[in-house]
Amino acid sequence: MNNNYNISEIAKMFNITTNKIRYYEKKGLLNLIRNEDNEYRKFNNEDIIKLQSILLYRSVGLSIKEIKDILKNSSTSNFLNHFNNQWEIVNNEIQRLTVIRSALEKVLDNLYEEEILNAKVDIQTVIENANNINYVKNNWSDKWNFDNWAKTYDISVLENRGAIKIYENYEMILEKVYKLAIENEKEDCTILEIGVGTANLSGKFLKNNYDIVGIDQSREMLNIAKSKYPKLKVRLGEFLKIPYGDKSFDVIVSTYAFHHLNEEEKIIAIDEMMRVLKDNGKIIIGDLMFKNKSEEEKLLETLNEEEIYEIKDEYYSYVDTLEIHFKKFNKKLRYKKIDRFMYVIEII
Ligand SMILES: C[S@@+](CC[C@H](N)C(=O)[O-])C[C@H]1O[C@@H](n2cnc3c(N)ncnc32)[C@H](O)[C@@H]1O
Repeated sequence: MNNNYNISEIAKMFNITTNKIRYYEKKGLLNLIRNEDNEYRKFNNEDIIKLQSILLYRSVGLSIKEIKDILKNSSTSNFLNHFNNQWEIVNNEIQRLTVIRSALEKVLDNLYEEEILNAKVDIQTVIENANNINYVKNNWSDKWNFDNWAKTYDISVLENRGAIKIYENYEMILEKVYKLAIENEKEDCTILEIGVGTANLSGKFLKNNYDIVGIDQSREMLNIAKSKYPKLKVRLGEFLKIPYGDKSFDVIVSTYAFHHLNEEEKIIAIDEMMRVLKDNGKIIIGDLMFKNKSEEEKLLETLNEEEIYEIKDEYYSYVDTLEIHFKKFNKKLRYKKIDRFMYVIEII
């Protein structure tokens, strides 16, 4: 076995420049031994494998700093951390470009079809809208710190912690969402859960041999979900930036998660869900909602200060408003009130 390649041979082998190899060495990614006689760099098989990995990691966009860290610490959790970072960067960029592409499509259609003067007015509005959507998409943040909550989340549910007892009917709600989701669906249907958390809902599908993909914006929640259900496919992802292509799913489900989006974000999330939903697909959501503003006002009158504070800390949906948004996609909304705070809605 030849373990004495020189830098030119290695550069040729990988079809890269010798400067690139020197750069990786300078940055501390390669630690090459020198030939004692002429001080030339010597490459053994380990160096070659390392260089191959470096080039592969660079090809998916990992930075020099990240590659250095991966080479130093090859634990699964460290790999997961860096590859999730990169996944997030790529997904964000795809999302941004998708919004821009659809704005450009609208502008072009407009220019081809309308008189130029009218079109000019539309162009600005379309681009402003696209910029606003991208702004909202990129500015959602987890003010509840779910990463921190992940380890104790299931206990909070079991003990029904909190002033307003939103987990009173947790099991019944999850069961209802599950039943509505599988109604009239084949076993090989494609299902997505958004805000999968610790996978208590996804677990129901898996136990009954349905495949389901769970996305969540919290890496710690995903770690717990995966440790409870090793067969569950999980991905880092958000309501506002679902990391899947158009028309990918027959069914989308979500419980106790939608209320982390404000009114403006909910509209964009609905667009996102409708984008990844197949034409005849359905969405089932179990979450904190009011039928309408007047139901909210009446309920608030009956609550104490602590309970009201908890409600104001979240963004409860109004069923009637959701109905209007889904109608734009020719979807019907059916709902069932579970208790004072919880509804299950079915969008078909
Ligand atoms: C209260 S937990 C509910 C977990 C689980 N669905 C259940 O029913 O037990 C809310 C979950 O939604 C996730 N989440 C909140 N906002 C989200 C968003 N915008 N996109 C994706 N996940 C989100 C959180 O990270 C957390 O895991």
